[in-house]
Amino acid sequence: MAHLAIIGTGYVGLTTGACLAHLGHDVVCADIDEEKIAVLLQGEVPIVEEGLDDLVAEGLASGGLRFVVGAAKAVSDCEAAFLCVPTPQGDDGSVDLTYIEAAARELAGTMPSETVVVNKSTVPVGSTRVVERFLERSDVAVVSNPEFLREGSAVRDFLEPDRIIIGSDDQDAANRVASLYEGVDAPILITDPASAETIKYAANAFLATKLSFVNALAAVCEGVGADVGDVVMGLGYDRRIGHQYLQPGPGWGGSCFPKDTSALLRIAESGGYDFQFLGGVIAVNEEQFSRVAEKVCQAAGGTLTERTVAVWGLTFKAGTDDMRDSPALSVINLLLSAGATVRAYDPTVTSHRGGIDERVEVGPDPLAVCRNADVLVVLTEWDEFGAVDPVEVAALMSGSGLVDTRNILDRDAWTGHGFEYTGIGR
Ligand SMILES: NC(=O)c1ccc[n+]([C@@H]2O[C@H](COP(=O)([O-])OP(=O)(O)OC[C@H]3O[C@@H](n4cnc5c(N)ncnc54)[C@H](O)[C@@H]3O)[C@@H](O)[C@H]2O)c1
Repeated sequence: MAHLAIIGTGYVGLTTGACLAHLGHDVVCADIDEEKIAVLLQGEVPIVEEGLDDLVAEGLASGGLRFVVGAAKAVSDCEAAFLCVPTPQGDDGSVDLTYIEAAARELAGTMPSETVVVNKSTVPVGSTRVVERFLERSDVAVVSNPEFLREGSAVRDFLEPDRIIIGSDDQDAANRVASLYEGVDAPILITDPASAETIKYAANAFLATKLSFVNALAAVCEGVGADVGDVVMGLGYDRRIGHQYLQPGPGWGGSCFPKDTSALLRIAESGGYDFQFLGGVIAVNEEQFSRVAEKVCQAAGGTLTERTVAVWGLTFKAGTDDMRDSPALSVINLLLSAGATVRAYDPTVTSHRGGIDERVEVGPDPLAVCRNADVLVVLTEWDEFGAVDPVEVAALMSGSGLVDTRNILDRDAWTGHGFEYTGIGR
C-alpha cells in the first residue's frame, strides 16, 4: 500500500483515484474546484461514469479515498503524485501547459523528498523535462504514465487496461510506479519519456484515423450503392484490421481526439515532419459535420429556414455526460446557422448547459422534442433511442424526415411507419 496524491479530480483523476484506492492504496484526490470537492465529500459523483459511484462509496467508507481542495494539502506525505489536470488546445493548435505548470509549482513546496511525480495528463513530447523544470526539485523524479481510458467505460479500462506505459530514464522511479499497479493484469512497457508521450498521441491519432476512414468509406458506399454496415462487418473479420472503431457516425469529437490530433500535427512540425496525412484525417472529420447537416437539410425538403429539427443526443458518445467538442454540438451549430430551430434531448443533459448554443431548447424526454418537428436527427448512440416507438414519434412530428447518423434505429420499422430514413453509408 502506498500513499498517493491525485492532482485534478476530473474524468481521469477521479477514476484514477477511485481505482487506485480500490487496489488498496491510500489516496488523496485534490482539485481547485471547491464545489466539486464538496459534492464528492458528500459521496456524490459529479460525472456520469459506470461503476465509479460504487468505487467512490467504497473508498470513502474504508477511508482509503479522501478529497481535499488544493494540491499542496494532498502531497504532504505522499510517495507518488499523479498529475491529472487539463491540457487544453492553445490558440495555435499546440498544447497549453498552464494547468500543468500551476499544479507542478503548487506541489514543489510541500512534496516530501523521493516523491515520484507521475504525469497522466496528455502532454507534448518533452513535457517530462518541462515538468522537472517547473518543479525545480532534484530530489523528485518525474515519470510519464499516459492514460488510455475511454469515457463511458473508464473504470473497466483503468482496472483492465490493454497496457500500462511508463516513460522514465530513472529505472527505480519507473519500477516504483509499475508496482502501484500490482493487481492489474496488463503488460507493462517501460520506455524513455519521449516514447511514452508519443505513444499516447499515436494511439489517439490512429483511432481518429480509423473513424475518419470509415466515414469516408461510408461516403463511397452512398455513391456506389453499397451498405457500410456490411462492408465494415466484412472488413473487421480481417484480424489485421478488427471491428473496433469502425462504426460510421456524425464525425469524431470529445475532450481528447480533436485536441490530441491537432497537437500531434504541431509536435510533428516541431520535429521537422509535415504530417499531411493526419491533416487529411482532421479535414475528413470536419467535412463529416457538413455532410450530416446537408443530409438534415435534404430531409427537411432542401432548406432549413423555418424548419424545426428534433435532435436526439448531445454528448460526444453514449455512456458519458461529456459534451466537450461533441460532434452533436458541431452539427447543431451548422443547423442553427442554416436557419433551423433546434430542440434537443439527451439522457444526461436535463437542463441547458454551457457548450450548447443558447438558441437550442433542451427537452425532458425524446418524445417532447419531436412535437411539430420537420426532421428528427440521431446524433449520439444511446440505447434508449432504439426503444422509442416510431408510431408515437410519427404522431407528434409535422414532417417525416429522419437522419440516423449512428445507424442505430431499425430502418425497416421506421420506414414502415412513414419515415423517410437517411443513415450514414447505407
Ligand atoms: N477525459 C478522457 O477521456 C481522457 C483520457 C485520457 C487522457 N486524458 C487526459 O487527462 C487530462 C485530464 O483530462 P480530464 O478529462 O480528466 O479533465 P477534466 O477537465 O475532467 O479534469 C481536470 C480537473 O483538474 C482540475 N485542476 C486544474 N488545475 C488544478 C490544480 N492546479 N490543482 C488541482 N486540480 C486542478 C480541474 O478543476 C478539473 O476538475 C488531460 O490531459 C486529458 O487530455 C483524458
